[in-house]
Amino acid sequence: MQDIHQLKVEHLSKHFILHNQGGVRMAVIDDISFDLGRGECLVLDGPSGAGKSTLLRCLYANYLASSGAIRVRAAGSGECIDMVGATPQAIIELRRTTLSYVSQFLRVIPRVGALDVIAEPLLALGESRAAAMARAAALLTRLNLPERLWQLPPATFSGGEQQRVNIARGFIAEKPVLLLDEPTASLDAANRQVVIALIREACARGAAVVGIFHDGEVSEAVATRRLPVLPLTPLAA
Ligand SMILES: Nc1ncnc2c1ncn2[C@@H]1O[C@H](COP(=O)(O)OP(=O)(O)O)[C@@H](O)[C@H]1O
Ligand SMILES: [Mg+2]
Repeated sequence: MQDIHQLKVEHLSKHFILHNQGGVRMAVIDDISFDLGRGECLVLDGPSGAGKSTLLRCLYANYLASSGAIRVRAAGSGECIDMVGATPQAIIELRRTTLSYVSQFLRVIPRVGALDVIAEPLLALGESRAAAMARAAALLTRLNLPERLWQLPPATFSGGEQQRVNIARGFIAEKPVLLLDEPTASLDAANRQVVIALIREACARGAAVVGIFHDGEVSEAVATRRLPVLPLTPLAA
């Protein structure tokens, strides 16, 4: 039988060693498993500090999981690659073709204008500059970012303006897997509705989405499934 998952997480655990506190071991994620198929939106639920962002960072391999597997189906080849054991080159390639991650805050690149920041993931897939810039502009129009800002580097933008640049960058390339960490935290109600629409459109085209939303309305509007992420009791080493 064909295995159709887009993302398969098996017995994932993550702890941190706090070197500045005598090497205390802090377990954050313990034995989480789930499968995600095309078109599904899994919402991570849990209180602040429970480990939701840590889980998402493990999925993107910003953090190396302590144990378990994170199998991602690569765009194109359809091959399943385990982010936990993958080489840095394989991770970079999976990020280029398959995974998109919208963090809560934009990591701005000095001197690069907003349109270029947004177009970059599409250019990396071989799209023409004209088409990538047109799509970036269309997304910024939808997200109501004033046109006078489009050519400027986002370093001086407000929190909500930077977040909209980040969202546009995350959605422009229509990757098979979207990881969203509180993408609406600094947005007003109208722009939250735009993000809800973008997430629904992504699911409709077959993307698998894992999201964290502090806003109950957004979460209700997009979730097809939920996964509780519960705080663990700290363990001393
Ligand atoms: N790089 C890190 N080093 C040490 N502790 C960390 C690190 N990243 C996250 N943590 C800790 O892991 C716990 C979970 O954090 P986080 O995943 O950000 O929670 P959530 O997103 O659910 O609010 C917190 O106690 C946090 O301090
Ligand atoms: Mg978080």
